Formats: sequence, structure tokens, C-alpha cells
Amino acid sequence: MAGAGAAEGASVDQRPIGMFDSGVGGLTVLHECLVSHPNEDFIYLGDTGRFPYGPRRVEEISSFAWQIASHLLSLDVKLLVVACNPATAAALPWLQEQLEASIIGAVHPEAEAAVQTTRNRRIGILATEATVASGSYARALLNLDAGLEIFPQACPQLASMIQSGDVSSPEMVEAVKSYAAPLKEAGVDTVILGCTHYPLVTPMLQRVFGREVTLVNSAREIAREVGEVLERKGIGNDPAREGNYSFLCTGQAESFVEVGARFLQMPFENVKTVEISELEKIVVA
Ligand code: DGL
Repeated sequence: MAGAGAAEGASVDQRPIGMFDSGVGGLTVLHECLVSHPNEDFIYLGDTGRFPYGPRRVEEISSFAWQIASHLLSLDVKLLVVACNPATAAALPWLQEQLEASIIGAVHPEAEAAVQTTRNRRIGILATEATVASGSYARALLNLDAGLEIFPQACPQLASMIQSGDVSSPEMVEAVKSYAAPLKEAGVDTVILGCTHYPLVTPMLQRVFGREVTLVNSAREIAREVGEVLERKGIGNDPAREGNYSFLCTGQAESFVEVGARFLQMPFENVKTVEISELEKIVVA
């Protein structure tokens, strides 16, 4: 599909980029992508009808990821971004093996940034139960530096509290403090926010950890990787154009927009619903 409208010698791929998350958290990734790649088109799918993925079994998360990936690829996306840590941990290698498409996810970009950042080689991870249980961050980090000390901390309530709109209640402050305490105790100098919901509470986390601890944010690192892939594969869109973006969700569109606007911080239009029953018809490999 490359070529339409391309200048002599340059290639332009006009197809959109597909992106998904279990809910609104991946909108923090979309936000960074819209800022970093304003000439690209994006289709974002939030599986809000089946949120949260964090407490679910690997097999279930994998089949949801397969259905959504297949659906987005049927819309002819040029790159698929799994902007969801549990879905990345459960299914990314399998999706990459089975599907004829360029697919990237969370975990690796954040691990790379954390290894480049740490000075004392003590890295903390805040993430959902499924992501921590998968061990995928620890594997990615140790592949890059086998001498690291890694401190993963599951935060069972955090994504759901943020998804419900709570970013500053006393309960949220207490939750953040209690999840941060073991990492502070361990003397980490770098903390990976291993859930795409967590950038919404960055100021509170930074206050609790202190300025001397660097927080690595999924959204920024995935947006950086998207840019690298577009450039290296030569599949970027015309740099002079203004991109557009649209949304699909599996739950109620009104509440997706209402909650999602806080994550996206951009105009939020063009939202359609996908029936879960339609996704469930997709045969899983
Ligand atoms: N936004 C997802 C993540 O990146 C977590 C939310 C969920 O539990 O579904 O970790």
C-alpha cells in the first residue's frame, strides 16, 4: 500500500496504526503517540467491556489479545501496538509468531529505558498481578543486564481505582504509599511503571519516591519505539499531513469517552462500539 502520494524516491504508507489495551490506560500511550507522530492515523481499541485483565488467567488474556489483534488487522493497520502490559506478557511472542504483521508491545521498551537509566542497578517494577506473575519484566531486564537486582511489586487495586477516575483520594494516596514502600526499602533508583494506567498518578508516585528516583513511563517508551519502527521499516506516513484518530470499545461508549478524556487529553470523537459477541466469533489459533 506504500506509494500513494509519495515523492520520488520516498515511500509513504498511508495505513493507520492499530493499538489496544484492556481499557483506557493505553490512551496514555496513544496520547504520547499523537504528540510524537502527529502525521500518523491511529485506531485505538479499548476492551472496556472485559476490563480488568490484571486479575485474569494467562489463557483468557491471550484469547482476548488474539481476538482484538485479528480484528484490528482486518482493518488493514500497518503496525499493531499492544499498549497493555498483561496482554503483552501473556501473548506478544505468540501473536508475533502466528500473525503476518508488525507487532510491538510494552515491556521491552520500558526495560531498555530502565537499564539505560539506573546507576545502582536496582530496579523496581509496579504492575498488575498478571504482569508481575508473568516475570516478563524481570526476563527482559536480565537479558539486557544480568547483574541487575529487580524488585517487582504487584498493585492489585491501582488500575481499577484509576480507571474509575480516582487519581487523588486519601485511599489512592495510601495505596500508592503502600505499593511504593517495599521498593523504597530496597533502595531502587529506577521504577518502571509497568501498567499503562499508572502515568495518571505520576505526580503522586514521584512525591512518594522522591526526585532522586527515576520513573520510567510505558507511554513515552512505547511511543519512542513506534517512531523507531516506522522509520527503520520505512512505513511512516507523509510528514506534512495532519493525522486523525478513532476509537473502538467493547463497553459503553459514553463512559469510555468520559473516563478516557482524562487519559487522552485531546479531543475525543469518532467512537464506535464492537460487540464482545462478535470478537468471540474470531477463531483463536
Ligand atoms: N492497562 C493495563 C496495563 O498496561 C492494566 C489494566 C488491567 O488490569 O487490565 O497493565
